[in-house]
Amino acid sequence: MAKILKDRLLVSMDIGTTKICVLVAQQLGPDQVEILGMGRAPSDGLQKGVVVNVSKTVQSIKAALKEAELVSGVDIESACIGISGAHIRAMNSHGVVAIKKGQVRESDITSALDAAKAIPVPEGYQILHILPQYFVVDGQDRLQDPLGMYGIRLEVQAHIILGAITSVQNLVTCCENAGVKVNDIVLEPLASAQSVLSSDEQQIGVAMLDIGGGTSDFVIYQNNSIVHTMVLPIAGNHFTNDIAIALRASIKDAERVKIEHGTVLIADSDEFLDVELAQGGNRTKISKNIVATILHARAQELLHFVRKEIEEKQLRSYCTSGLVITGGGSLLNGIDCIAQSMFNMPVRIGKLHVTYALPGTLNSPMYATGYGLLLHTLRTRELSFNAQLNGPFVQRVAARMKSWVIDFF
Ligand SMILES: Nc1ncnc2c1ncn2[C@@H]1O[C@H](COP(=O)(O)OP(=O)(O)OP(=O)(O)O)[C@@H](O)[C@H]1O
Ligand SMILES: [Mg+2]
Repeated sequence: MAKILKDRLLVSMDIGTTKICVLVAQQLGPDQVEILGMGRAPSDGLQKGVVVNVSKTVQSIKAALKEAELVSGVDIESACIGISGAHIRAMNSHGVVAIKKGQVRESDITSALDAAKAIPVPEGYQILHILPQYFVVDGQDRLQDPLGMYGIRLEVQAHIILGAITSVQNLVTCCENAGVKVNDIVLEPLASAQSVLSSDEQQIGVAMLDIGGGTSDFVIYQNNSIVHTMVLPIAGNHFTNDIAIALRASIKDAERVKIEHGTVLIADSDEFLDVELAQGGNRTKISKNIVATILHARAQELLHFVRKEIEEKQLRSYCTSGLVITGGGSLLNGIDCIAQSMFNMPVRIGKLHVTYALPGTLNSPMYATGYGLLLHTLRTRELSFNAQLNGPFVQRVAARMKSWVIDFF
């Protein structure tokens, strides 16, 4: 394989509750990456998106890394990783500053964002991201880029993401113990959104639900900025456990039944499925209808929480383009249909938006986060470069955001 220039190399690690996925890619052009290799390993050591066993997580990461290095022929030194979990909190904040020299400069924007950072951070929490939503100069219209505007007073409205310090530290420690330096840490739904949402959807307004194994991450975008974030501790594993508990099936076979025959749509089927009992050895026949009824109830519960959030926080007007469901849980047959009827808005399954051919196995909503982390690295890297050249505003802000994340360590 031709030698890959270090500054073209991109590595992401999606450390999920059910799988670790390491992607190695090279940058081909702006917004275009070629996957050089992928390493996957079952994840053992996380629950609901957070590390609960360091040594098991390290072993899983090492296994995925080894495969990715072997396939890509690249020695992986550092990577961009994702973070999620029920500890994630988000809030909107406002910052106001006086424009020092009568014309908005970079330093005024930084000061306004710093002012927005002045929020009561709960004990044991730390700011992970500050995402500017819009700026206002002297009470005028909302602006995406205030740089160079004349005025006296600069305001910013920002979306702030907080994470539990211990959860972040455990995740970083696991990566370091596996021999990888963490060069950026990104909220997983932000990464998934980059993979599956079109730029038009992000502009017009759209909701995205990433149903993983341990958490379901919900975000809303409008005007190219994030409006709302929520992490729910209900996801794919709960569907599996429900089958296992209700039918006394082994977890392994409950997972198989869900993947091979699962649907959330209740239909009159006279089919019976053969499953292994939890006690081991013995098998039994279970009705496909009953499996569908169990999955239907869990899907309704999960989507009910999302709908409640939309209604309580009055978010419906932001969801102009509807809802995009992604993550491994989106592969459950009929989940989009039931969501469509519950939300009364267009719903689609979020497949990866790719700019370059992907290996077939990667073409699944399960890899939305990993691929999105690569795109994030690509964009932030370009942004830092453009920032030096005075590139467009959003890019400069993103470059700064990255440095804030690094400040965190
Ligand atoms: N074909 C399928 N039908 C139904 N469910 C599926 C299918 N394929 C995968 N899943 C489910 O998707 C879930 C895993 O999704 P994903 O890989 O996105 O999670 P993760 O990233 O490991 O976890 P998390 O993001 O919560 O930390 C599992 O619960 C799995 O059972
Ligand atoms: Mg995930």
